[in-house]
Order: sequence, then C-alpha cells, then structure tokens
Amino acid sequence: MRISVVGTGHVGLTTAACLAHVGHQVLGVDDDAEKVASIARGEVPFHEPGLTELVREGLDNGRLRVSPDASAAARHGDIVFVCVGTPTKESGEANLVQVERVARVVARSLEGYTVVAEKSTVPVETGLWIQRTIGREASPDAEVDVASNPEFLQEGRAVKDTLEPDRVVVGAESERAVERLREAYRPIVDRAGCPFVVTDLATAELIKHASNAFLSTKISFINAVADVCERTGADVETVAAAMGLDPRIGPAFLRAGLGFGGECLPKDVRAFRYTAEQLGVGFGLLGEVERVNVARIDAFVEKIRAVLWHLEDKRVALWGLAFKPDTDDLRHSPALEVAHRLVEGGAHVVAYDPVAMPAAKPLIGDVEFAADPYEAVRGADCLAVCTEWSVFATADLDRLRDEMAHPVVVDGRNVFHPAAMAAAGFTYASMGRPTQGPDHDKPLST
Ligand code: UGA
Repeated sequence: MRISVVGTGHVGLTTAACLAHVGHQVLGVDDDAEKVASIARGEVPFHEPGLTELVREGLDNGRLRVSPDASAAARHGDIVFVCVGTPTKESGEANLVQVERVARVVARSLEGYTVVAEKSTVPVETGLWIQRTIGREASPDAEVDVASNPEFLQEGRAVKDTLEPDRVVVGAESERAVERLREAYRPIVDRAGCPFVVTDLATAELIKHASNAFLSTKISFINAVADVCERTGADVETVAAAMGLDPRIGPAFLRAGLGFGGECLPKDVRAFRYTAEQLGVGFGLLGEVERVNVARIDAFVEKIRAVLWHLEDKRVALWGLAFKPDTDDLRHSPALEVAHRLVEGGAHVVAYDPVAMPAAKPLIGDVEFAADPYEAVRGADCLAVCTEWSVFATADLDRLRDEMAHPVVVDGRNVFHPAAMAAAGFTYASMGRPTQGPDHDKPLST
C-alpha cells in the first residue's frame, strides 16, 4: 500500500519507518527541508533506540522516501497520516494550526479516494474540523474520508510499541476508511495478535486523551501517596508493588518520583481538561493531577536543600537531564527545572546525561557539563538523580562515594536501594521512602 506520513517527529518518523518495514511504500513529509535532507542521509534527528536502523533499511530498499513537499503526500498516499505537533496554548487549549495547515495543503492535491488519518493527539471533534477543511479545499473529484488513528507509543521504546502494539484504534465514519486502515495495519496486527478497535471518530480521539490523562493520574496518585509515606516512615515502592498485584490496578505507571514530563502527558492533561470544561464538564481532578506533578519539583529541591542546609556555594552533581531514559527529549523535563532552581538558589551544578547533553547545553547555560557520571560527582556536596538511566542504577557505589566531597545522594527516581546506599556509607534521601545513612537522624531543616 502507498502511505504518506506528514510530520517527522517521534510519532511521524517511527510510523513511517515501521510501515515501510512491514512492506508498504512510504513517503515521509516534513516542511523542514534541512531535517528531510538529514533523514534522507539516514540520520535520525533525535535519540530513539532502533529507529536509525529501520530508517536506513527503508531508504536502502526504497520503501521509505522523504520529501519537504506536503502536496506530494496527497498525491502519493492511499492513506495520509497527519503526525504534526499540537503544542499547548497558555490556556491549556491545544494549538491546532499545524493540523489545519496540513489539511489545507493536502486537500488541494488529493486525487481519487484517500483516507486522511489524524495521529497527532488532538481534542475531540478535530476530525470533524479536518473533514470540513478538506471539503472546502479539495477538488470535487477527490473522495476523502477522515479517520482518527491515535498513537500510543512511548519515546525510548517507540519502535517496539509500533511494531508490537497493545491495540490499534481506528475511528471513522465510513466502512471503506476502516477497511483501508485495517489493510495498512494487517501485518502489524497479525504479528502482534493485538485487538484492532473500531470506533466512531470522536470516540477514537477521546481514547487517546483519556489514556494519557489516566496515566498521568496514576503517576500523580502514587506521588501523593509517596508524600504520605514520607510522613509515616512507610515505603512507597512496597506500597506500589503490592497495589499493582491487584489486576484491577496493575503495576505500571506507579513509579513515584520527580513526576511526569515530556511533550505528551503534561500537555494532554491540560488539553483534556480544557476540552472537557469547554464542553461544560468540570474535570477538576485533572487540575489536581497537574498541581501534584508541579509540586514534585518543589519537594525535590527542598529535599536537596534540607540535606545541604543552604544551596549557596554548594557543588551539586545532577545525573540525568532527559525527561526519561532512552531519549534525548528535554521538553518539560523535570531535570531541567531542577537545574534552574538549584542555580537560582546559588548552587554550582555539574550535570551528566548519557545522550541529552548536546540538546541541553543551549538551554541551561549556567550549568557545567561532565564527560561521565563520575566526573560529575567529583568534589560534589550532593548528587541529585533526576532521570533513571540504567547506567546510574549500576554505578560503582564505592567509586561514587570516594569521588564525592560528601557522600550525600538525593534520588528523584528511586534508582538506588536504600539499604545498599546506607551500607555503602551514603546519606540517602529518595522519594516516598525513609531517608538513610549517618545524617538521617540529625535535623535536616533549618
Ligand atoms: C506518553 C504515553 O505513555 C504514550 O502512551 C503516548 O503515546 C505518548 O505519551 C504520546 O502521547 O505520544 P511518553 O511521553 O513517551 O509517552 O512518556 P512516558 O513513558 O509515558 O513517561 C512520561 C513521564 O512520566 C516521564 O517523565 C516519566 O519519567 C514519568 N513516569 C512514568 C513516572 O514518573 N512514573 C511512572 O510510573 C511512569
């Protein structure tokens, strides 16, 4: 099948490369000509395990091509997937300008029957607007159906999530559109043995927003539980593990810590709440989810301040800058906000991240960058762990302690085991677990 994918961000490029991998003829389109040129050379403009190999495979066997021309997407594709960004406005409302622009450009070049499928995360009823926009712009000979095909991939495991999804959701008002999308996904659905869920347009749009909002709710819930644990001496990791044994709850997304960042969850919580409230449904629950999440940064910085007494003149090593491991994505990364606060408080911050440092350098000018995790902690008064990269979890604790001026670790992602840290001689504060080590029974606040 001939497929076009407009937008070569995480979702767009992964979708394009995976659909080429399973046998389709795919054209990836992006109006950033420089980006297109680098993809055409086999360079993926962000860190995503396994994606470079798939992109190169598609370019080499000719099943994947890229172009800066959105009208080419309309001419090429039996299906045109729209995967452009939907950033948040100040109010929380999703900004759909790029979606509308693509709809207009694509509409003018459509030929024959085409399915335009929105993959960008959009508020409910966007599909209707796309349909209307295309109806106004397309030639009378063009036959178009608009569908919603939300994407559930997680950065850092995007290839696996796309080739082995839990479910494929398609919302459309016409059987013909559903059948075309079913055909496109057949190789993936057959191999993964996953459900192919067919709904109307509005339901599919809602499934995406509701899923991301619910995942965010789980995270904020466990983070609020972590705060209660800290005041009672309980251990949130054990609480979460035992809660997760109940199949009605499940263990995923119950990791307490610095909270959720990235381009998707923070934006979608706000956008879903905004949409609900526009429709007259008060969704204050999501306001609380956001409030708890924002407060994680305050709580974490306060933990660091509490173990150091004052931030001024302290050397703080910061491990992890990306919003989560296996990505170089810094959008809404809690680590960046922590770095800003520490610098503002007067600390000297030395950061290390396995992949996100080149992207971080222009964003946090007042921070020093280290070549490896141990260089970052050399002479440090405190280590703050902000992203749970596996290289941190397997760090040599003796070396870590010996490099630091004072063996004090504040762990925002519960990477380490408290007993092991105490045994290795650290003062160790984490999220939702009792503080360990020689200093823990001494007063920690001024
Ligand atoms: C999220 C969703 O998980 C995907 O299903 C969805 O397709 C995607 O958004 C999207 O809308 O495009 P992603 O933003 O890649 O995926 O990241 P997640 O793995 O969901 O993590 C988000 C944040 O939550 C990270 O900062 C992570 O550290 C944090 N998190 C996650 C926790 O604090 N605790 C957890 O238990 C899980």
